Amino acid sequence: MSPQQAVAAVVVLAAGQGTRMRSTTPKVLHEMGGRSMLGHVLAATGPLGAGTTLVVVGAGREAVAEHLAAVAPGARPVVQEEQRGSGHAAAVALAAAPDLTGPVLLVNGDAPLLRPETVTALVEAHRAAGAVLTVLTAEVEDPTGLGRVVRDASGAVTGIVEERDATPEQRAITEVNAGVYVGDAAALRRALARIDQDNDQGELYLTDAVGLLVGDGEPVAGAVAEDPDDVLGCNDQREVAARRRTLNDRVLDGLMRAGVTVVDPATTWVDVTASVAAGARLLPGVQLHGTTSVGAGAVVGPDTTLVDTGVGEGASVVRSHCLGSVVGPGATVGPFSYLRPGTDLSRGAKVGAFVETKNARVGEDSKVPHLSYVGDATIGRGANVGAATVFVNYDGVTKHHTTIGDHVRIGSDTMLVAPVTVGDGAYTAAGSVITHDVPPGAMGVARAAQRNVAGWVRRRRPGTAAAQAAAAATGPAEDAAGARPVTGGDGADRPTEPDGNHDQ
Ligand code: UD1
Ligand code: CA
Repeated sequence: MSPQQAVAAVVVLAAGQGTRMRSTTPKVLHEMGGRSMLGHVLAATGPLGAGTTLVVVGAGREAVAEHLAAVAPGARPVVQEEQRGSGHAAAVALAAAPDLTGPVLLVNGDAPLLRPETVTALVEAHRAAGAVLTVLTAEVEDPTGLGRVVRDASGAVTGIVEERDATPEQRAITEVNAGVYVGDAAALRRALARIDQDNDQGELYLTDAVGLLVGDGEPVAGAVAEDPDDVLGCNDQREVAARRRTLNDRVLDGLMRAGVTVVDPATTWVDVTASVAAGARLLPGVQLHGTTSVGAGAVVGPDTTLVDTGVGEGASVVRSHCLGSVVGPGATVGPFSYLRPGTDLSRGAKVGAFVETKNARVGEDSKVPHLSYVGDATIGRGANVGAATVFVNYDGVTKHHTTIGDHVRIGSDTMLVAPVTVGDGAYTAAGSVITHDVPPGAMGVARAAQRNVAGWVRRRRPGTAAAQAAAAATGPAEDAAGARPVTGGDGADRPTEPDGNHDQ
């Protein structure tokens, strides 16, 4: 242990079955606020800088060890073959590190609200008291289900008694054991060697080490947590939901204090890993997950979920679902759009209503306003993609790329069959199926020519409202035109065409 390390080791007890969760997922892997419960405990103890972190695994050990390798590769899993109680778990951990000496932090793996400052205060209290074991405690309104802290007339801790083993007087105690302890490794080894299963559950209780050391005349202390929320454990799905809510309230409190507008905290969920700049506005029904970041002046929501997505300053995302995307400064998204991974909207770009994008770069001030699919695409600046355009990127086997130049106008209902390139300043005619490159400045037209069959309604739908309307519009002259079909051109050279670009 180096001088700057507050403890020699951190031991997380995470082998329990979590039977009350009634879940196939190991208890400590249940997620809240963007981290597993175990992840939260490791985040709270990480700042101690302990050289050794041991995590006792048992129930669901493969899943827990795999998760541990991903979130805390420096931590070492220690297997507790049989779940014989928290005291047994602690003993197994210490046995796996026989050379360990000095203060060790022991912590239950199901304490997701624990914060670094609370852990640091406990370690500080332990040092100040000169104790061999210090227990973190909390004064709570409802101690149901928790171990009670028993003190003598002088206020010194004499033991911890589990609720099921407690006398009625002890049950009335509202100071509870948090399940977080700092103990001298040697003292812990001595005490844990002597604990027994003489309790209602027939388990080896870590908490019995307290009474044993007190009985030996060793100094044992209790440190009361400043915020009782910090120590709340998590034993069933209702408690997971309650802790998740508390965690979220803390995150939103921090954001609001820093100048973020949260219109409806009850329906806004922000992971501890997400960030929101001062001056941003979160409207009701927003969820910000993972590494999502929201810039100053941006507006997100209502009803928007962002996962690992960066939203730039002054951008807006309305009623949309975005994964692994970048929404540039001043860009706008939605309502009702789906941005999939690899979407990168440059400054001022627009993805409007009912648009799906994937692996698509949309250049500055370019617009995809309505009802389109943009997959595997690069779009230059100042371009407009008309309504109902599809970037046809998949040939059934392989995905292909489409490149659209600067200031291009893609007509509505264009199919861009990739791989294909539309050059700078080019147009495509509405309704085209573009299978060949369109050179810069050209108009790509790929659609059947229009044919008008004159008088068809009068002959084939006589007496209908349509026939009457047609007769009123054309008068008897239309009759004179008879059945002679009139064939039009493809329309691409008409001044009102070709874009059909719906850009407003
Ligand atoms: C425990 C404490 C209780 C305290 C409460 C705080 C004991 C005996 N009681 O009760 O005083 O108020 O936490 O939340 O410790 N574990 C193992 N291996 C085992 C058994 C448990 O690793 O064989 C781990 C669990 O995964 C859990 C921790 O130890 O993280 C505590 O076990 P749990 O069954 O949750 O104890 P509680 O009844 O909550
Ligand atoms: Ca527990």
